Amino acid sequence: MKIVGVCCSAQKKKTTRYALDACMKAIREDYPQIYTVTIDLAEKEVNACKALNHCAKSLTCGQKDDFNELIPILSDPDLGGLIVATPVYMGAMSGQCKAFLDRCVMFRRNGFLFRNKVGGVIAVGGFRNGGQEVAIQSVHAVMLVQDMIVVGDGKPGAHFGGTMWSGHPEGIEHDEKGLETVRNLGRRVAEVALKISQ
Ligand SMILES: Cc1cc2nc3c(=O)[nH]c(=O)nc-3n(C[C@H](O)[C@H](O)[C@H](O)COP(=O)(O)O)c2cc1C
Repeated sequence: MKIVGVCCSAQKKKTTRYALDACMKAIREDYPQIYTVTIDLAEKEVNACKALNHCAKSLTCGQKDDFNELIPILSDPDLGGLIVATPVYMGAMSGQCKAFLDRCVMFRRNGFLFRNKVGGVIAVGGFRNGGQEVAIQSVHAVMLVQDMIVVGDGKPGAHFGGTMWSGHPEGIEHDEKGLETVRNLGRRVAEVALKISQ
């Protein structure tokens, strides 16, 4: 089984990627039977959906950008879970995140390929309470429209997902409570994905 993490920051190798990497590492450590794949949108060109509607009939997109190389990774039946990590931009998900999620409409239109896949979300904000939970819930809404199984970070915290504060004066790696939420989110996505596959 494969779990895919998508980093939706505008910047390469910054705090959102740090949070996603910690989440994926926790999955690999606790669930060695699962392999992880990370997609970093800062390294790719994935533009907003232009409603060309090529995907109404087949798993193809009319735009010639890097989303096309993501189609086989995301439509692979081995996919068990999808973790979306976004920075908080203006109290919401990043534009990169929305562009990616809109382009994923093709998986809904071609047989609901994300149906019963487990979805979890990480949000990283510059402020402690900068809108992480609102950003997470807006991604949850998209996951529900894809007929996914949405989970949070599970026990003992059991809240919305992974929430991190990049504004910690000593750096994001010192946001220990936040780190625990992203690790627990990964474990929870893996746990439920394995239960569903049984
Ligand atoms: C356009 C923009 C809007 C932002 N809005 C918020 C916000 O509403 N709340 C918040 O906590 N941080 C906000 N931030 C800060 C980022 O969420 C924060 O710096 C985050 O760690 C960036 O992730 P990165 O290091 O992966 O780029 C904003 C940053 C940008 C560039």
